[in-house]
Amino acid sequence: MDKIAVLDFGGQYAHLIANRIRRLGVFAEILIPQNLVDVENELKDYCGVILSGGPQSVFEKNSPKIDSAIFEIGKPILGICYGLQFLVHALGGKVRKGKGGEYGKAELKISGKSKLLTAVPKKSTAWMSHGDEVVDLPEGFIKTASTESCEFAAVENSAKEIFGLQFHPEVLHTDAGEMILKNFLKITKAKKSWDLNKFLKSEISKIKKQVGKRKVFLLVSGGVDSTVAFALLEKALGKKNVFGLMVDTGLMRQGEADEVSKSLRKAGFDNLKIINERKHFLAALANITDPEEKRRVIGRVFLKVQRKALKRLRFNPREWLLGQGTIYPDTIESAGTSNSAKIKTHHNRVEEIEAMIEKGLIVEPLAGLYKDEVREVGKKLKLSKKLIERHPFPGPGLGVRIICGASNKPKTTNKIETEIKRKWKLTGKVLPIQSVGVQGDSRSFAHPVAIYTASRDFEKLEEISTWLVNKFPEINRVVLCLNSAKAPRIFQSSFAKMTNSRVELLQTADAIVNKILVAQKLYLKVWQFPVVLAPVFEKEGESIILRPVNSAEAMTANFARLPKTFFSAVVAKLKKLPEIENIFLDITNKPPATIEWE
Ligand code: XMP
Repeated sequence: MDKIAVLDFGGQYAHLIANRIRRLGVFAEILIPQNLVDVENELKDYCGVILSGGPQSVFEKNSPKIDSAIFEIGKPILGICYGLQFLVHALGGKVRKGKGGEYGKAELKISGKSKLLTAVPKKSTAWMSHGDEVVDLPEGFIKTASTESCEFAAVENSAKEIFGLQFHPEVLHTDAGEMILKNFLKITKAKKSWDLNKFLKSEISKIKKQVGKRKVFLLVSGGVDSTVAFALLEKALGKKNVFGLMVDTGLMRQGEADEVSKSLRKAGFDNLKIINERKHFLAALANITDPEEKRRVIGRVFLKVQRKALKRLRFNPREWLLGQGTIYPDTIESAGTSNSAKIKTHHNRVEEIEAMIEKGLIVEPLAGLYKDEVREVGKKLKLSKKLIERHPFPGPGLGVRIICGASNKPKTTNKIETEIKRKWKLTGKVLPIQSVGVQGDSRSFAHPVAIYTASRDFEKLEEISTWLVNKFPEINRVVLCLNSAKAPRIFQSSFAKMTNSRVELLQTADAIVNKILVAQKLYLKVWQFPVVLAPVFEKEGESIILRPVNSAEAMTANFARLPKTFFSAVVAKLKKLPEIENIFLDITNKPPATIEWE
């Protein structure tokens, strides 16, 4: 089968590139550059090579490298972001250490004739996420496109078929991204021969081979991933050999445990047991405030609970493997690929699980797929629309949507707030809490800014949010206050913990938001809708942050633009909860923020 090699320099996007290529019908595989010793020989079966982005700078001593012989093997090569900088640096051009970096959308202008850019409009939007930049080209290369702040946005040596892009063609925010990847595939002459039916067939035989005569014990959350994993394992191994356990962690949505178990039984999954472990999870989280620690604790309690259940059910560990509905982004963003920076530890990637993976004790039939592909596989396995179309819900559940602890505002708060006033003529308040983000492929843990305006011009709001996050490293999110256009004088936070009453408060708020979303027929218009509880207030109480996003694969996301009537209905209902003082809307894209706050 014709295939493309994607060399993983550690970017959040390396697997995304491979996924895009596969979706264009050509098989793509990820290779780790440091593992290649004889590039000519090891790449001989590939029609073309893509060098991915990565979190490092070519100037760092230990930045990932590949033998320069790669540029002499006569295969078409496309370097993206770090991949471009690497090839320019290796071939004698010049890369300069970036000052502030560039993150977000930019206007791409074509400036030269290029096979790679065939049929790309003269002007279009491209997605940038980089620190360093190219300032001088190697011999034989020409510039083919620029943006306002990046002269060498696209370059090439057409004689040698070596191409480079500073922007990311693999993310959907780049208008012509798919066109450019298609053009590259044409240049490589690779034949289209990959699809999900083939994946299903090969995965089923892989599962059979790995599991052998043993059985699989799967943790089911009711989310799309674990349900599809359940169905796929059943198809491969037969009903008798797959056993599902649903743990009610107490961190699920209101009424979720009941609803999920009902709909799973209706779909024919009768080999399913539900256990209630609310107390256990809440007790373990009682004094935990750090997001990473929370994730580790939740992951560990999951394992403990599951071991206890196995014991109680008298399962012989030699006869059972543990199944998980892990999908691609879960493995990548937990630094699942050797070069990626750690953004978040997913509950199914804690140390103990990693150790079990090493020993071959874990089955993860979907670990190579993205959410949209998982949904397609679900359809092929004849699961109901209702199950397949559910919004994704993270394993640690509301645990990562309840902000705990408190943090001081940064020292530069006054400067930031004054700059916002000067530049945008509106009030911005830095909030005394922090959340997780992802910038230039690395994790950030920084403050949100709340802005106050009656305007609902989302294009403008997006501009403000991109500007703020690019300008101030202390800021990684921007939220818009929905219940008031006038800012309070002060903002305080309390040292809040993970308590039962806070979980219940968030469950109530989340149920209100979801009900309105469904009633206004907007459920399928957003990809995911986290509702977050944060201990910030002017006088007393807490704040709710709405985080509706649109995304195709969770690696990148846009905040969703919902109608005014939705927000006014939500604010009216949430304001009736006595504990809630403020309601914010998160208006940050991913990157620089992540979808979940923790
Ligand atoms: P972030 O917040 O990293 O989320 O932008 C990307 C997607 O992953 C989901 N997510 C998780 N899913 N276990 C999961 O099963 C986890 O620990 C976890 N953390 C985040 C998140 O809801 C979003 O869809």
